[in-house]
Amino acid sequence: MGRARMKIVGIPGSLRRASFNRGLLVAAQEVAPADVAIEILDLAPIPFYNADVEMLGLPEAVVELRERIAEADALLLTVPEYNHSFTAVLKNALDWASRPRPLSALRQKPVALMGAGGGSGTIRAQLAIRPVLACNEAYVMPKPELYIANAPQRFDADGNLTDETVRETVRDIVAALAAWTRRLRAD
Ligand SMILES: Cc1cc2nc3c(=O)[nH]c(=O)nc-3n(C[C@H](O)[C@H](O)[C@H](O)COP(=O)(O)O)c2cc1C
Repeated sequence: MGRARMKIVGIPGSLRRASFNRGLLVAAQEVAPADVAIEILDLAPIPFYNADVEMLGLPEAVVELRERIAEADALLLTVPEYNHSFTAVLKNALDWASRPRPLSALRQKPVALMGAGGGSGTIRAQLAIRPVLACNEAYVMPKPELYIANAPQRFDADGNLTDETVRETVRDIVAALAAWTRRLRAD
């Protein structure tokens, strides 16, 4: 009997059409093993978190976000760096997903990180997002790591990854995340 296909939800922390961080997730889809499916989530429809709105009933886009995270075996987050931290759209999505606190969709969720940016390759953004995920008891994979500096040299103008060395690291991260997830679920 073959094992069930693993479902990974990829979340790009950028709304830009030709986002390098979205392109990284497309590359992850391309190199994923046959028994791993990666879906890419779009954060554009997610409104800003507002406790008043939450009390009246969750917006449809937020319900879908929470369901897709809850149903995923694992998450693959790509983390752009804005002003030495991770982006507001990603924080906002994590805030919605964390609510209500005892039912955080992120709790015990296996997560891997990667990112493409400027000179420091998103290292500060990825360091900044780790405590947010720890607060939600997500299981963030420690390694392999991927910090892509000077992203415009490694992607084309449409956001497609063109660097074969980076593509191999993406392949390693997807395989490692699948193994990390299976290990955590083996109970
Ligand atoms: C408001 C803003 C702040 C930024 N700050 C940083 C930064 O601190 N470090 C960095 O490496 N790149 C920084 N950048 C450049 C982004 O890394 C770059 O725009 C990157 O392409 C964004 O990711 P995306 O291609 O997925 O949209 C900043 C860009 C913006 C718009």
